[in-house]
Amino acid sequence: MLNGVHLPSSKSVSEQRAGPAATSAVLDNTEKPSQQSLLAYVKKKADGGAVRKIVTVMEETEAGTGLWGTVGLRPDAGIYRTSIRSLLNTGRTDLAVDVYRMRMTAREQRPNAITVDFPLAASVIRAVLRDSKKRKMRALDSQAVFEEMKMDCEISRDMNSCGGHEGGKNISKKVGALISVMNAFLADGDIRRVEEALRAIGQLPVHSTDAALPVKEYNNAIRFLGKSRLLTGVFTILDLMRASEVEPNNETFEFLANAAVRQVDFVTGAVSMDTLPDPLGTEVAFVGRSNVGKSSLVNMICNRKALAYVSGRPGKTQQFNYFLVNGKDTDSQFYMVDLPGVGYAKVPRPVQDAWTNFMRQYLKHRTSLRLVFHLIDGRHGALVDDEALMRQMSASGRHNNEYVIVLTKMDKMDKQKVKQSILDKTKAALSRNGCRRDTSIVLTSSTTRLGRDEMWRHLQSALAPVSATLSAARSSQK
Ligand code: GTP
Ligand code: MG
Repeated sequence: MLNGVHLPSSKSVSEQRAGPAATSAVLDNTEKPSQQSLLAYVKKKADGGAVRKIVTVMEETEAGTGLWGTVGLRPDAGIYRTSIRSLLNTGRTDLAVDVYRMRMTAREQRPNAITVDFPLAASVIRAVLRDSKKRKMRALDSQAVFEEMKMDCEISRDMNSCGGHEGGKNISKKVGALISVMNAFLADGDIRRVEEALRAIGQLPVHSTDAALPVKEYNNAIRFLGKSRLLTGVFTILDLMRASEVEPNNETFEFLANAAVRQVDFVTGAVSMDTLPDPLGTEVAFVGRSNVGKSSLVNMICNRKALAYVSGRPGKTQQFNYFLVNGKDTDSQFYMVDLPGVGYAKVPRPVQDAWTNFMRQYLKHRTSLRLVFHLIDGRHGALVDDEALMRQMSASGRHNNEYVIVLTKMDKMDKQKVKQSILDKTKAALSRNGCRRDTSIVLTSSTTRLGRDEMWRHLQSALAPVSATLSAARSSQK
């Protein structure tokens, strides 16, 4: 037992490989046995490919026998690292696991000298998983090492909450190692452990650029998680990037969009409450004046060129266009609804009134509606129709986090001007019409793809409760 971690029982290494001490005549007469000479011995054996000798000397020294053990020396963390890495490099994962097991016991006895070495543990887990695929190793071996890593994450968190401090570089090594382990579990199809790895990552005190990894490491993880349809995991990695102040790049969003939106189908165009499709878990709506860029934004978010019909002529979208996202996967499916532009002057008054009425009912009574993006042309700010829409939103009794203002076409704007004027005007319009002044405002451009991350953040919070519940249900079924 190692602080609650059960080591897999196996024949002791000595039972398997005890042999005559092969370590005499290693040092010349003047040299005393030391950590350096032991390390040199291990390196020499590794270079010569004498892998079993490495195991023997480690075991002897740990047992207090042999040239180094009898003088009271015990292998330190560096010697363990060199031994285990050498064994992994020669493809002897079985021996590497044996020595790692010794290391775990040693860690129990000498916790100050031997702490968890995350990159080393990750290498062992990856090798075991790779070999267990070839049926050479038992998956059990990777579990014990993984348990040790998870335990250390908890220690890091506790240390941090007690005011202790762990260097950022150390944390970044841990994050990198856990991500690589998570990827290995993903490749192995072990979703439960992927989720455990994500939780372990979540326990690490990551809150500075010191903990940052190269962006491609995160992107890879997002791609793999997306392929396995683990959207909550994708968002965990995005959160991690944010905490480490790593800027997502185009590839990040491409993988994110591919993960979140694997398939999109137009379902129906609704014209009244009773023609709405049966609700799914989650529905997200895009509202705003004609020509403001709703359809373009739907396309940008989904990383599709021509999903929703974009037109230079206002009033093109004439109904509540329902797009079913991920229709084949009940766990992650949701509706995106592209609404007709409000206030299109060429539509006769009675028709406009009927639309307004439909919209009011929809915003108030559609229970599966989790999020409303209200698009406003950034060049003009909130116009009369937008203020009417704000009033409808405040009357609908929806929570603050269900309503987001999106200022569009920002590529056509001078940024400074926007910040000083449009933002303030929008906030004033919000509070004038009964909405909270601190309602989220996102600046976007479908042309430059500005605001993709913010849009996805809001989508995440709308979708997360559904996927989190489903993933919890999934793991409890196992
Ligand atoms: P309706 O369906 O009529 O309500 O319009 P809509 O809100 O869906 O707007 P749509 O996406 O069809 O875009 C209207 C026009 O604005 C098109 O010519 C788009 O190419 C253009 N447009 C949309 N978004 C942007 C943007 O971010 N920047 C620029 N420069 N043009 C945009
Ligand atoms: Mg449209």
